[in-house]
Amino acid sequence: MSLVLHFDDEAGLAQGLAHALGWDCQAVGIHRFPDGECRVCLPSSLPRRVVLLRGLHQPNEKLGLLLIAAPAARDLGAGHLTLVAPYLAYMRQDMEFHPGEAVSQRHVGRALAAWFDAVITVDPHLHRVASMDEVVPGRRGLSVSAAPLLAAHAARQVPGALLLAPDEEAGQWVRAAAQANGLDHAVCRKRRQGDHEVQVALPDADVAGRAVVLMDDLASTGRTLIAAAQGALARGAASVDVAVTHGLFIGDALAQVRAAGVRHVWSSDCVPHASNAVSVVPLLVAAVRQVAD
Ligand code: R5P
Repeated sequence: MSLVLHFDDEAGLAQGLAHALGWDCQAVGIHRFPDGECRVCLPSSLPRRVVLLRGLHQPNEKLGLLLIAAPAARDLGAGHLTLVAPYLAYMRQDMEFHPGEAVSQRHVGRALAAWFDAVITVDPHLHRVASMDEVVPGRRGLSVSAAPLLAAHAARQVPGALLLAPDEEAGQWVRAAAQANGLDHAVCRKRRQGDHEVQVALPDADVAGRAVVLMDDLASTGRTLIAAAQGALARGAASVDVAVTHGLFIGDALAQVRAAGVRHVWSSDCVPHASNAVSVVPLLVAAVRQVAD
């Protein structure tokens, strides 16, 4: 029997994945010592095929624990080890934007490639890199997209919605999701000047009177969504809802998004959050089967 291993905070997603695959599911035990070190405890004997589910939101400690858990899984019998990271951090720093800056995507990718045979994720923020195979050199990298599921959810909740991508990077993603659901779409232009300083210019599309659904891969500070929502409402949108794959919503981001006039906020369950409305389990099941084949 193959096994899905998980950490405590992702038990729900792991159990859903294991159940759909017909695999066992067990937790990795963590004891935190007073000095900040952790004791990591896995089942004492592992089957050949193991999936370790670990989303990498709040990534630094989680990467530290993967550094221990992955080789421990090998020692305990895992011959083929797949990381399922519904949210994969450090993908945005994909070039040296200023002299001396570490290209984090490259280094995190290489570390994952050293620990895992395959890495599966959902809507990674790949900009200058074409595929997950490039992120984990020499290993199997696979990404799936929650956009069609989010768009289908939006179409059910708001028939006839106008899907709005807040930036060009989300444009292609939103275009495909809109076409698959028979919805209109439009793409904004974004200028980011700092962590919390974002300007979004709306496209020429007629937004007045339309029910707008903003779709993006990620909401972190929420500033992108806030700027786009304010722009759409200023242009006469009848309502603005939000659908994102990864709802990080750092600090008071969600409250700020709502204060900007957003009605509903929907996210996938890649990152556990009160806004979760769409499950990526079917996507992950298909990806794990593809890797297993
Ligand atoms: C970047 O291009 C991404 O697609 C998101 O738009 C961005 O990361 C969102 O970040 P924030 O919520 O901090 O504006």
